[in-house]
Amino acid sequence: MTAPKALVAGNWKMNGLTASIDQINRLNDLISQNGANCDVLICPPYTLINAFSKLATDHLSIGAQDCHFNISGAHTGDISAAMIKDLDARYVIVGHSERRADHAEDNETVKAKAEAAQSIGLNAIICVGETEKQRDAGQALEVVTSQVKASIPDQSVVENTLIAYEPVWAIGTGRTPTESDVEEIHNAIRQVLNGRFGENASQIKILYGGSVKASNAHALMSVPNVNGALVGGASLKADDFYGIISAYDQIG
Ligand code: PGA
Repeated sequence: MTAPKALVAGNWKMNGLTASIDQINRLNDLISQNGANCDVLICPPYTLINAFSKLATDHLSIGAQDCHFNISGAHTGDISAAMIKDLDARYVIVGHSERRADHAEDNETVKAKAEAAQSIGLNAIICVGETEKQRDAGQALEVVTSQVKASIPDQSVVENTLIAYEPVWAIGTGRTPTESDVEEIHNAIRQVLNGRFGENASQIKILYGGSVKASNAHALMSVPNVNGALVGGASLKADDFYGIISAYDQIG
């Protein structure tokens, strides 16, 4: 089976104000003028989803960075998957390492959030990744595969499930794993998905994230079983982000 269409996703984290809509307009201009050989997603903070959704196109989708595991209720300050869907967003990131660390989210919580997102019709991007200490101890494969197994909801289907492998030590540091390390982990994730979803598992996108930028995108995105990128810092400026998108001009 052929590889799924790649997805280059931008995670804006806690960045962006109303004026940042200029970046979305610029991104749409760059894509319509020069094309995109992959799908593109921007996950801004909640405050910008409504405005950005109005600029979504066939090439550009909008998503959120987190959601609550309940669909509604007494959870002051939280945002539900239903609210995100209501703004025409299509994806939600769950289990980003910054959420796992800052908000003590464990695999069980991440799984419940992914389940809430998928139950309402959103695609869940489930993030996994080892810390530097775990990699140095030779535990990266074991940590990542057990996170994948424990974070995917029972009801997930191939169409609404994505995995993002983001080594914690590579996020925002300018450091990346070697291509062979990325390949090893992505292959192991694919094996877990094969066991779980059968032959259609090849259609689940496994994104790589952690210090992806225009200059390393081609090499990282060419690794087998890498079906796109989850990009933090380099997604904030449309021209930088388009440099990553255009890496796909030279990839299948
Ligand atoms: P980075 O962040 O590209 O700034 O390293 C990636 C992420 O956290 O998703």
